Amino acid sequence: MSANDLRHQESDTLGPHAGIAAAANVSGMDAYRALVAEAERDYEGFWAGRARAMLDWHKPFSKVLDESNAPFYTWFEDGELNASYNCLDRHVERSDGSRTAIIFEADDGAVTAVSYAELLARVCRFANALKAYGVGKGDRVVVYMPMSIEAVVAMQACTRIGAIHSVVFGGFSAKSLNERIADLGAVALVTADEQMRGGRPLPLKGIADEALGMGHCDSVQHVFVYRRTGARIGWNSPRDVWMHEAMAAQSTQCEPQWLGAEHPLFVLYTSGSTGKPKGVQHAAAGYLLWAAQTMHWTFDLKQNDVFWCTADIGWITGHTYIAYGPLLCGATQILFEGVPVYPDAGRFWRMIERHRVSLFYTAPTAIRALIKASHENPDTHPGRFDLSTLRVIGTAGEPINPQVWQWYYEHVGNDRCAVVDTWWQTETGGQLIAPLPGATPLVPGACTLPLPGICAAVVDETGQAVPHGHGGLLVVTRPWPAMLRTVWADPERFRKTYFPAELGGATYLAGDGAMRDAHTGYFTITGRIDDVLNVSGHRLGTMAIESALVAHPGVAEAAVVGCPDALTGEAIVAFVVWKSARPEGVFAAQMAAELCAWVASEIGPIAKPKEIRFGDNLPKTRSGKIMRRLLRALANGEPITQDVSTLENAAVLEQLGLPR
Ligand code: WT7
Repeated sequence: MSANDLRHQESDTLGPHAGIAAAANVSGMDAYRALVAEAERDYEGFWAGRARAMLDWHKPFSKVLDESNAPFYTWFEDGELNASYNCLDRHVERSDGSRTAIIFEADDGAVTAVSYAELLARVCRFANALKAYGVGKGDRVVVYMPMSIEAVVAMQACTRIGAIHSVVFGGFSAKSLNERIADLGAVALVTADEQMRGGRPLPLKGIADEALGMGHCDSVQHVFVYRRTGARIGWNSPRDVWMHEAMAAQSTQCEPQWLGAEHPLFVLYTSGSTGKPKGVQHAAAGYLLWAAQTMHWTFDLKQNDVFWCTADIGWITGHTYIAYGPLLCGATQILFEGVPVYPDAGRFWRMIERHRVSLFYTAPTAIRALIKASHENPDTHPGRFDLSTLRVIGTAGEPINPQVWQWYYEHVGNDRCAVVDTWWQTETGGQLIAPLPGATPLVPGACTLPLPGICAAVVDETGQAVPHGHGGLLVVTRPWPAMLRTVWADPERFRKTYFPAELGGATYLAGDGAMRDAHTGYFTITGRIDDVLNVSGHRLGTMAIESALVAHPGVAEAAVVGCPDALTGEAIVAFVVWKSARPEGVFAAQMAAELCAWVASEIGPIAKPKEIRFGDNLPKTRSGKIMRRLLRALANGEPITQDVSTLENAAVLEQLGLPR
């Protein structure tokens, strides 16, 4: 994008608010344009400057970007650094380390805080413990933990010794956990006795034991257990080790392992078009640079800010904007164990008031749920709380519709905060398209413009740019430092999925549709272009849910589509062919409930269908492909526009919900 490509029609836009703009890290659109122009003039020089400013290097890099093995790009390759040194030690060395790093609020409201010095000591203890139990550089460690300071300690301790962490969301089932451990050949698992959410315990260790008992996990030597609730759990000696005991035996000093810039920092699994999740692999330096840089740009982070990202550490947002970004910047952040609606739907607003949060980052799905709850119980409305400390309020993970954006702006931001709708993905490592609070005029429902140095575009299937005002594929035409490096153990899948030959083999295909505004050039995301659903901001592959359904002994065939849902954004509708006679009436309701429970145990409760419809068969084309567009229309109760004359059994459409 060229800097003078931006013609702003100020009348359609809001802000930026003078108070925010005046003191902002990037103040005014001219400052933004200058950064964009700087990156355009000297792409590598721009990133080299950022990498030197944001990170401390043990050994400086001499090369910036290597494109010779595209799309397997490398950044700052001959430089050396350590992630946990950059997140912790350097802050302690430059001050006394007494600044609060994390304020943890438990599910029941109890608060504990740790300073940078204390966090560093704990990370060193656990890093030493990992080493003592034989974990070393390049080993994979799976983290299956509740939201806790200990989860951050586990991740940071891995980076300190060069082990590669892979966090598995605590809501995933034993089977999902098992698949990830097996794919990685992990040597250790870090988990907790239980996790507390909304007043209810969830037996993480029990699920972990079940996962390890499912086979293909012989690589796992040790299971470190964080004692969260003190519940009775199964114990497998000498494999199982209490985290606190292992740490107590160790020193608070641990020399960081200096690692090449491209050393893998972590692998995080995400859903794709096939049933098998992709292990998205990130490299240390480029990712860390981006985590720190976007804290400055998108959140306008300042010395006295209190930052709160409500995401779970099991997702990329919890990696970049909890475990890394805020710590890299030496910020104070809130870490929350619970859920937004417990003990009531005022929880978020009460916590913002209590901890004087100034930068807040959450998901549209949470905002939608809290809007609804505030209608039902006005005491939970954000207007009842003192939110005057807020300056920047952000969203990520799914489209935010203009009405929800407006409510967030008015009632949470009190008409004076910048709302940053940030577009990014597990693969991008950090935010790529987002407003800058002190510069970008806001438009409800638009993630606005690419961050400086990001070459985003909207193209057609052949890679040709489409005119503004027309929909197309969202791509990034030049490599950026925080991009994924590969798919774990599957480089071919990496190449085919993200750098398809049709687009020339060197353009990153995001998997989202997008459109640019004819006047402002602003980007709006129109949704996924592949078989991936976004349910409450969680990314789920339709294939994965279909595979789970057909694994049930009663199911012959299944197809899954998404349909719009006011609360969850998209909801899952499953069409199922039963092996014996088609379930009807009460039996159909019973089997639907059973299948939902089944999917929850195969993948996790987040993948449960909202609705299951049974048919004698599924509508297919002559060549035997399931007619998904037709199923989507049926799920949405829309009229059928497809040619159904070739269907062998047209009556099946009625079974599957054709409106009469
Ligand atoms: C998918 C990535 C944002 C990181 C957490 C989710 C959708 C993300 C937006 C946005 C519209 C968005 C896209 C994307 N998405 N942000 N601001 N507006 N859609 O990471 O699980 O990898 O999911 O979330 O469809 O591809 P993820």
